[in-house]
Amino acid sequence: MSADDVAVVLLAAGKGTRMKSDIPKVLHPLAGQPLIHHALSAAGALGAARCVVVVGPDMEEVERAVAPHATAVQERQQGTADAVLAAQAALNGFGGGPGDPTVLVLYADTPLIRPATLSRMIAAREAGAAVVVLGFRPDDPAEYGRLMCDDKGGLEAIVEYRDADDTQRAVTLCNSGVMAVSAARLWGLLGRVGNDNAKGEYYLTDIVALARADGLACAVVEGDAAEMLGINSRNDLAAAEAVWQRQRRAAAMAEGATLLDPATVWFSHDTRLGRDVVVGPSVVFGPGVTVADGAEIRAFCHLEGSEIGPRATVGPFARLRPGARIGKDARVGNFVEVKNAVMGEGAKANHLSYVGDAEVGAGANIGAGTITCNYDGYLKHRTDIGAGAFIGSNTALVAPVSVGKGAIVGAGSAITGNVPDDAIAVTRARQTVAKGAAKAYRKRKAAEKAARKKEG
Ligand code: UD1
Ligand code: CA
Repeated sequence: MSADDVAVVLLAAGKGTRMKSDIPKVLHPLAGQPLIHHALSAAGALGAARCVVVVGPDMEEVERAVAPHATAVQERQQGTADAVLAAQAALNGFGGGPGDPTVLVLYADTPLIRPATLSRMIAAREAGAAVVVLGFRPDDPAEYGRLMCDDKGGLEAIVEYRDADDTQRAVTLCNSGVMAVSAARLWGLLGRVGNDNAKGEYYLTDIVALARADGLACAVVEGDAAEMLGINSRNDLAAAEAVWQRQRRAAAMAEGATLLDPATVWFSHDTRLGRDVVVGPSVVFGPGVTVADGAEIRAFCHLEGSEIGPRATVGPFARLRPGARIGKDARVGNFVEVKNAVMGEGAKANHLSYVGDAEVGAGANIGAGTITCNYDGYLKHRTDIGAGAFIGSNTALVAPVSVGKGAIVGAGSAITGNVPDDAIAVTRARQTVAKGAAKAYRKRKAAEKAARKKEG
């Protein structure tokens, strides 16, 4: 079966009331991207020909978040079978042609399922089952639907917890919700699902017994319980984040990065680390960070939207904000913030600086306490620092401004005009020195104090 033979229906119409949130459940972030994008990526990795996201009414925010994927609106939430039916029109006759393609039903609130697991389901469909269900054995089967199998392991029915008797509830094999169904059979089966059950809903799970009654084969593919974690509450979300982070840390190390204290490093869905990257304790990678080979991110850094070049050193305690590009062998040290700025090859800002909306040339040195004053209260302006320039400590560079190649700025300057190449610019007042004045001052003050004491 090729990817052309798979269409994905992603269910996201649920209100997610247990999140107690004004944000739709599936837009809460996991690994720095909305929950629903995790299921979409798994579908994308399969290379599915089509994907329709089923949303509830008034969920335009979700529709925007999944664009350009097609969406279908389930007007009233009458159950998972009804939700899948809502996608039928958008699938536009998928499965009507020759062959026996598959509709894969995924839940938007089940973000950890791996593409490899979905591929196993597609393979089971290819082997002849009309309906393939992804099952798992959780530590606590709780209120999951139970999978009823015959003695050959074929799936006979799914019984929802609320509708199950004690014998059925004793079954430990549970329904994850993910199903791969013959597109040729799906719509006919869904049309026959009724709502005579404990919830008064149209259950997608009922199609198994209906298919069996038609003499069709149904199968279970078992997956790892950790993958099936469904998000209903913020506690579930935190648990899923923990699982995701643990897996990502292991992958980072397997791919050749050193994490000095793995449990304290936080990744995003799109973090990319090269070989021999070293990451210290308590480093947070927000979305959009790429770290090239041999770079070192020292302890307590917070990075997002940044590119770090080969063998560059960042931190400890550095903050890289979106648009920071740290060149090869460059150094960004403690309490330095870089935003929308390029640090050229070998450039250094080692201590206590803000470099924003700037270009720092190769080998330039930014002294401690240097600030690019990029904002005038209304607009942002750029600072350009040439290659090999030296900016003395505690300098304010009032943008828009440029410092030429090889130029030197004296410590404590407020630079408001451009400095040419190889020039020296200093704006602080000239120093005056009064020899012996300190001694005279102390003598005078001590006398004043003694006089006060006498007066009582
Ligand atoms: C469902 C399964 C159950 C399984 C469990 C796994 C059914 C009848 N039951 O139960 O066997 O063990 O998932 O988590 O399918 N949704 C809609 N429209 C609706 C109803 C639901 O889009 O009208 C979506 C929800 O947004 C959610 C998914 O379908 O993404 C599952 O719905 P939910 O109500 O949580 O099903 P469960 O009762 O958990
Ligand atoms: Ca659920």
